[in-house]
Amino acid sequence: MSAPVDLHVVQRRGQPISKVQRAKTLMEALEFLRADSGARPLAGGTDLLLDLARSAADNPQTLVDLSAIAGLAEIADFDDAFVIGAGVTHAEIVADSRLTVSALPLAQACLEIGSPQLRNRATVAGNIASASPANDTISALMALDADIELVSLGHGDEIETRAIPISQFFPAFRQTVIEPGELIRAIRVPKLQTGARGIWMKAGLRKNQAISVVHGAIVVDLDGEQVANARLALGSVGPTVALVAEFGESLVGSSLSRDSIEAAASIAAASIEPISDGRGSADYRRSIVKTLVRRGLSALADRTEAVMWPANPPTLSTPGAVRPAPRNDVVTDDTTVEVRVNNAQVFAPSAASQTLLDWLRSTAGAAAERSLSGVKEGCAEGECGACTVVLNGSAVMSCLVSAAQVDGGSVVTVEGIGASKELHAVQEAFIDEFAVQCGYCIPGFIVAAARLLDEYPDPSNEQIEHALSGNLCRCTGYYPMFEAIREAARARRDGRSS
Ligand code: FES
Repeated sequence: MSAPVDLHVVQRRGQPISKVQRAKTLMEALEFLRADSGARPLAGGTDLLLDLARSAADNPQTLVDLSAIAGLAEIADFDDAFVIGAGVTHAEIVADSRLTVSALPLAQACLEIGSPQLRNRATVAGNIASASPANDTISALMALDADIELVSLGHGDEIETRAIPISQFFPAFRQTVIEPGELIRAIRVPKLQTGARGIWMKAGLRKNQAISVVHGAIVVDLDGEQVANARLALGSVGPTVALVAEFGESLVGSSLSRDSIEAAASIAAASIEPISDGRGSADYRRSIVKTLVRRGLSALADRTEAVMWPANPPTLSTPGAVRPAPRNDVVTDDTTVEVRVNNAQVFAPSAASQTLLDWLRSTAGAAAERSLSGVKEGCAEGECGACTVVLNGSAVMSCLVSAAQVDGGSVVTVEGIGASKELHAVQEAFIDEFAVQCGYCIPGFIVAAARLLDEYPDPSNEQIEHALSGNLCRCTGYYPMFEAIREAARARRDGRSS
């Protein structure tokens, strides 16, 4: 058996998890949380695993995995609202045309978060629970007047529910009103009714993978030409995302004219006390708020708020892919988990304390006596895409996936994309187009690009750009890569490659 690959110890300074307890029902999850007050719920895990790595979480030993609870990953469609389960990912919102029609600001926010790989794991409920003022969906949900449904175990062991308006959900910086033992079950999002229009806006320091300098959402209810109600929520400007009351007051009773828009934008900018930080000064943020509000209101007046919504944005996922049933109810480091890696079963321990990235490179590769070190670590925080693998049909950042949650599932790494004697069309094209410089990021690009061609065999330039927005190349060799992907699509179409 080959020796495990050494991990980068300096990047493993966080809090290892000793047990991942899988809940099959909501009741079970609440019972686990009541029995162990130090346990933390785990859904997509993209924020929680980062907090653990940075020792920013309150030292839990146990995570309660919610991903197998039936119904938690569903979107219910009622006449007046959507009820979005706590397990619904950002990618699932982006792919749901009902939401792009009737809750556009939320869909727009979900599309801007992270990268396709991140959106395939991260849940909207997790974005709320982690409570950062930079969390983009919160401003959208606040402008849409959403409620958060919390559940807990009552004294008679019945599940008790309470609904909190999201505008009252964040009492202070990175704090929520969630009590110990409570869970977010769902988010109730009122639909934009006839006469209502909404838009979500963002300014970041780069186009993709950017933490917002300012994010915000506007919803206006129009009675004919007149504004009957208007809400503006802004994030990344203060300790919490918050509504700007003065904005609505300034607009009600007016039409969306050039003058009223300019006045509302000025009032919004004057009504906030922005923070200064590494991403921007208070003055810069105030000026950005004025610009964003002016542009947002102008788009609503012109009915162009949806024009930037891309045609068929790739999700790098498989629609309707089944989330496989986990094999073990409890995973510790002594548990042998079973994962299908590149079409062969792998049995290996140490999944509780490891990310999928580390587990593949060290434990699983050693257990399977084959190299699985093609998957690379660049940043270990979901920013670079070097660790991209396909998990249960969806591209993910393996550095932000708990290996315990992969038990019973299937993974494809770059080693499973093609064989040395029979390369994948993308691999052949990367060679032919000289699309490799240092090579470190290439496994992640190959996996993402191959998944893109599965989803869209003849992708547009916009789709290629969108699909690779989560992959960084420090040699900046993007143009040859884009050409390689176009060539791979052509080669497959012409029957020159498989
Ligand atoms: Fe996982 Fe960079 S995104 S290592």
